[in-house]
Amino acid sequence: MYVYVTRTRTRRRTTRTAAAAGLLALALLAGGCTEAISGVRGAPGAAGLRDPYFPKLGNGGYDVRHYALSLAYDPGTGRLDGTVEITARATQDLSAFNLDLAGLTVGGATVDGDRAAYNRAGNELTLRPREEIRDGAEFRATVTYSGVPEPITDADGSVEGWLRTDGGAVAVGEPEGSMTWFPGNHHPSDKAAYDISLTVPAGLEALSNGVRTERRTEGDGRVTTVWHAAEPMASYLATVAVGRYETATETAAVPAAVPGALPVLTAAEPPVAADSAALRGEIPEILARQVERFGPYPFSAAGAIVTVDGTLGYALETQTRPVFPAASFDRTTLVHELAHQWFGNSVTPETWRDLWLNEGFATYAEWLYAEEYEHVPARTRFERAFAQEANWAFPPAAPPAAENLFDPPVYQRGAMVLHKLRETVGERTFGEILRGWPAKYRHANASTDDFTAYAESVAGKDLDGLWKVWLYGEGKPDRP
Ligand code: ARG
Ligand code: ZN
Repeated sequence: MYVYVTRTRTRRRTTRTAAAAGLLALALLAGGCTEAISGVRGAPGAAGLRDPYFPKLGNGGYDVRHYALSLAYDPGTGRLDGTVEITARATQDLSAFNLDLAGLTVGGATVDGDRAAYNRAGNELTLRPREEIRDGAEFRATVTYSGVPEPITDADGSVEGWLRTDGGAVAVGEPEGSMTWFPGNHHPSDKAAYDISLTVPAGLEALSNGVRTERRTEGDGRVTTVWHAAEPMASYLATVAVGRYETATETAAVPAAVPGALPVLTAAEPPVAADSAALRGEIPEILARQVERFGPYPFSAAGAIVTVDGTLGYALETQTRPVFPAASFDRTTLVHELAHQWFGNSVTPETWRDLWLNEGFATYAEWLYAEEYEHVPARTRFERAFAQEANWAFPPAAPPAAENLFDPPVYQRGAMVLHKLRETVGERTFGEILRGWPAKYRHANASTDDFTAYAESVAGKDLDGLWKVWLYGEGKPDRP
């Protein structure tokens, strides 16, 4: 008995030593290629993109090209059944990669048709493909999931994500709510095209971004509506609205990302359908003026969704089709959200720190509108904003924390920077910047540095003094 154990031990030790020696020999022979021999070359993609405010948002190692979302929603139970098919390109050798997903239950995942192992930790869903993905390779990942989505309460107290409404739902995702209704690379720096298919009970409308390409009745009587968003979209701008909406379609005769007339599809829930119709009808006119100032409309569809839901407390510039709670569907907010189609949606912030490039411009678009149609000079708006202490809490390009992202300085001081730029470079150059900036970064991402460099290049001079005081300055200058 004793002898037997000893022998076993000895033999095992011998085996281990031999294996170690063999590996060592292989390693020496192979030099730098040991990983290739062991089969492990790639590394997991990063779990976050180190955004200054949301370090875990987004994921590294790949770039999404396209999302195909198939969603079935039951307003009665609030249950969502989804499949996402992600087409992406690897930007490194990948042994695994992450998607962002909050809540819900994952039923399964595949990569390139093979079942993939998956794991969840917090808002990170990790997929491990059976075979590694090579740097530069295009791959397709699918995830099926279901459950009752839970909205996110932001640091500033506002609610976002998949919001259940009376008899329907509305989904908004700025800055991180889209992970409550589909797994994805939820950082604004990874934009992609989308096809969104929505199946809901008969009698309900199911709206989303882009162009409606199909509507069919399923065998069980439910109705599926398919939406195609061709131009790159940051995931925070994806939307869904399900309810008893009344829709209206028209066209706008403006240069856009589509030949011929631009289709404009608006929707409103019955209690506000009639009252909101006139303002919805102004969209083509507002866009026509914005096109003159900001250049061609960047997308192939336009519109608006007006909901009576009390949960949604703010309007959002969801791509091609902004969403408005009925209480904030007014002309100023409409002008603001339509301007975002250029500033934010086509030219998208590199990180959430660059949000003033969205909100400063959209606010300035309101000032321009008031100047032209309400005879309030932008200078007057500027002085009013200058006088308000709340606008001086911090510099527009440096919100102290996530809870301050949507605070007044980002909007009002952001617009003040643009007005000072206008006064400094003159009407003609400023007009060139307003049109040239969305042209140069069309469908791309841009940072604050990109903007200051661009403005200086158009102005043909250094504007350091302006940025120092108005964009980066901690305090309020002596004079407006
Ligand atoms: N971007 C929206 C607008 O300016 C506001 C979104 C507010 N979101 C939030 N989480 N506070 O119209
Ligand atoms: Zn805005």
